[in-house]
Formats: sequence, structure tokens, C-alpha cells
Amino acid sequence: MGIVIAVAQQKGGAGKTMLAAQLGVALAEAASVSLLDIDPQASLTIWGKLRASAPKAALDVPVTSISGWRLAAEVERLKKAHDYVLIDTPPVIDSDARRAIRGADLVLVPLNPAPPDLWAAEATLKLAAEEKRRTALLFNRAPAASRLRKRLEAEIAARGLLLLPAALANRAGYANAFADGLGVTETGPSSAAAMEIREVTNALKRLFFET
Ligand SMILES: Nc1ncnc2c1ncn2[C@@H]1O[C@H](COP(=O)(O)OP(=O)(O)O)[C@@H](O)[C@H]1O
Ligand SMILES: [Mg+2]
Repeated sequence: MGIVIAVAQQKGGAGKTMLAAQLGVALAEAASVSLLDIDPQASLTIWGKLRASAPKAALDVPVTSISGWRLAAEVERLKKAHDYVLIDTPPVIDSDARRAIRGADLVLVPLNPAPPDLWAAEATLKLAAEEKRRTALLFNRAPAASRLRKRLEAEIAARGLLLLPAALANRAGYANAFADGLGVTETGPSSAAAMEIREVTNALKRLFFET
């Protein structure tokens, strides 16, 4: 049975879709991965279509889109066939977001290291807690060190929430690769962005395969 990761955060623009695509490609270097797009905006689906005609896209990272009552069955079907299923969710808490979180082994919550992003994540965190799902926060567009980042790290720790020990900086490479249907590990295999994404995938693997 594969591992299901729902990328969720009520705030739009937090980096959910970018992260699902980048992690999908990075994980596909060593495993079988499937992406599931449940956002009506369908950005991940469009990325998948671009990918189909991108010469640099050597790895198979299929994207399916689904919504409504068939969602849970689709997650079950995909996890039987793949090592990882990453679900990109819409910036709303609705019944589909709940279905995705219910079906997930991990709810991955990207956020800017700034208080408004943590406030915006509250509904997602509450939903994950209600569904008794494991949750990990991930700093995206994070400055290497800032007072706000430290403050958020302290706040997250004080609440007993898990923050991944790897973060993504603000890099044009993420948006550029996405626009071409690629991952940064394909556009620049030794770029700083590729290193960061690999660190995040390693941190995720450690969550599942250690202790
Ligand atoms: N770390 C980052 N560096 C640069 N651009 C980013 C980063 N994270 C996200 N973006 C860009 O910000 C925009 C919003 O990200 P997106 O993944 O669509 O957010 P969401 O799915 O949460 O609404 C996209 O254009 C994306 O490429
Ligand atoms: Mg999105």
C-alpha cells in the first residue's frame, strides 16, 4: 500500500500545487508516484498536460483529477498501484478537502513563515485533528533566518505541531519549472532548488520510515 500525502492549507498561493508537482517529480526518482488534483482550478492537471509534451520530463508522474463521492475510492485505487499518492487540494475547507484528509497518511501544510499563514492554516489543522491525521508543517518562501521565522518556529513547537526540518526558499526556479510541466530536479538537477526539494523528500521519508 502506498503512502498518501494530502497537501492542504486554506490559504491560496501558499505553494500547495507547486509543492505537489515538485515533490511528485523528486519522489519519482526512486519510487512510483501518482498525483491527484482535487482543486477545481486544475493547475496541477494543466501542469500534467504540459509535462506530457516536455522533452525533459523523463519520469512518469501521472496526474488524475477527481471530485465528489468518487474521491475516496480513487485514493484507495491509486495507493494500491503506487508508492506515493500526493493530493493537491483547493484553498477551501469543503467536503472534498475532508475526504482527501481522511484518506491521507500525512497532511502536509505549506506556509510562509509569518503569523497570517499560520492563522490561515487553523481550519486545515483542525480538520486534520478531527480526522486524527498526522500533520507536518513546511515553510515555503522562507528566508534563511528572520525574526518572524524564529517566532513562528517557537509558536509551532509550543503547540506541539511538527515542522519539517527542511524548508523551501523563494526561488524563481520553482515557478519556472512548474510553468514547463517539470520539476526543479529536472530543470536544474544540481540547483539550490533541487537540493531543497530533495531535502524535503528525505525529511518526509524519514517521517514514514524511521521509528
Ligand atoms: N518557494 C517558491 N518560490 C517561488 N515561487 C513560488 C514558491 N512557492 C510557490 N510559488 C509560486 O507561487 C504561486 C502560487 O503557488 P501555488 O502552488 O499555486 O499555491 P496554492 O496551490 O497554495 O494556491 C505559483 O505561481 C507558484 O509557482
Ligand atoms: Mg493550488
